[in-house]
Amino acid sequence: MAEEPGIKLELEDIQSGVLRPRPTPYVATYIALRIEDAKAGRELMRRVSSVVTSAANPASPLADTWISVALTYQGLKALGVPQDSLDSFAWEFRQGMASRAKDLGDTGESSPENWERPLGTSELHVVLVAVSPDSQRLESVLERARESYAGMTGIKAIWRQDCHALPNEKEPFGFRDGISHPAIEGSGVAGTNPRERPLKAGEFVLGYLDEMGSVQKTNPELLGRNGTYIVFRKLHQRVAEFRKYLKANSTSTDDEELLAAKMMGRWRSGAPLALCPLHDNPELGSDRNRNNDFLYEADDPAGLKTPGGSHIRRTNPRDAAIAGVARIHRMIRRGTAYGTMLPEGILEDDGVDRGLMFAFVGAHLGRQFEFVQSQWINDGVFFGAGEDKDPIVGSGGDKANFTVPRRPVRKRLQGLPRFVIMRGGEYGFMPGLRALRWLADLET
Ligand code: HEM
Repeated sequence: MAEEPGIKLELEDIQSGVLRPRPTPYVATYIALRIEDAKAGRELMRRVSSVVTSAANPASPLADTWISVALTYQGLKALGVPQDSLDSFAWEFRQGMASRAKDLGDTGESSPENWERPLGTSELHVVLVAVSPDSQRLESVLERARESYAGMTGIKAIWRQDCHALPNEKEPFGFRDGISHPAIEGSGVAGTNPRERPLKAGEFVLGYLDEMGSVQKTNPELLGRNGTYIVFRKLHQRVAEFRKYLKANSTSTDDEELLAAKMMGRWRSGAPLALCPLHDNPELGSDRNRNNDFLYEADDPAGLKTPGGSHIRRTNPRDAAIAGVARIHRMIRRGTAYGTMLPEGILEDDGVDRGLMFAFVGAHLGRQFEFVQSQWINDGVFFGAGEDKDPIVGSGGDKANFTVPRRPVRKRLQGLPRFVIMRGGEYGFMPGLRALRWLADLET
């Protein structure tokens, strides 16, 4: 769908990692830093401001290789940002992700006391993310990132996570990922669903008009402008458990694939049930012009093709009849696999930690990520399914049921186990490039 004229984003001030889709395939490394001294932290901001690439010049050969930077609330504090500025940031960001655990369903095995340290602690201040199409270029971009903090007393590297997106874009459960992305007015980056009207820029970047007609600002305005929030979540995937579950609840291999597709809303090839409900169509799955070109309501109101409870219909109900408006709960997803894939056909866990290092970008942590996670993933009321949960990423347990609507009788799966365990994460703020320099020049 064409962009509305007139809205111009200040791309040269927005970090590349906010708007540009990551290349395919790609490798990425997350590095977390602790600021032990405010002066060193400000020097870090100065150096980082010259290595972080902006979203301008997408055609440049460097456009696929970039470094992004995010600060946690504790990080802004460690830099000495004045309290009245700190208070102007989103409430959820100020609380930190670990404090929000109960609402997010991060309980039991997924609760913060079981998270990988230093995730969820006040030690995590800055997160650098280096992205590149291959390991060789990643090394050189990592070197640039390291130069911004190496040898500085007062800055400590405290955590690292390497990730990758395979050429076939499959995540550890075996589904093609990275298909559905929203279009953003004025960004120059097209969305992948031609039937979705581009979203107002203020949904994803602070300082612009959003879908509700308001503009998110911080104090001072310059600090927030062209910045946004990012949600990091390291999600461990129980792949063997998932495969065993499919087998135990199916009558044949074909039936297993159909059940997997019903749970996701897409076949593993990426082909959407909305367009091929009975059989997989791998060609459609990999066709970027067609694999996200669908809506739900007119064609499939009862979910006979794509169940209302499937992962993709829950996390983006598009035009389906639900309580509320889907457009104000959209976010940009940047998921990346970590750990080696479990070889095909293996049903026993090999003990390898594998999963997704998730990143969600959006200007409204509350009504975007937190809402989707708590109301759409871990509840079913919004589409009339009581307490049913997302069968793939829901928090599992006695009440984790999933219904496959079909005729003459629906298929009802009860007490689904938890296939995805939270290993830790945090909320970050990704400042614009001018704001990075403002942080570097702080004199408090
Ligand atoms: C390990 C956990 C997860 C796995 C394996 C996973 C996997 C997938 C896959 C394979 C797709 C379909 C491909 C695509 O549309 O790009 C997808 C779509 C999506 N997922 Fe997830 N996901 C996970 C967690 C989450 C979480 C926690 C959220 C939100 C809080 C989420 C939100 C979405 C959204 C919004 C879409 C796009 C739906 C659409 O527009 O049709 N996912 N996910």
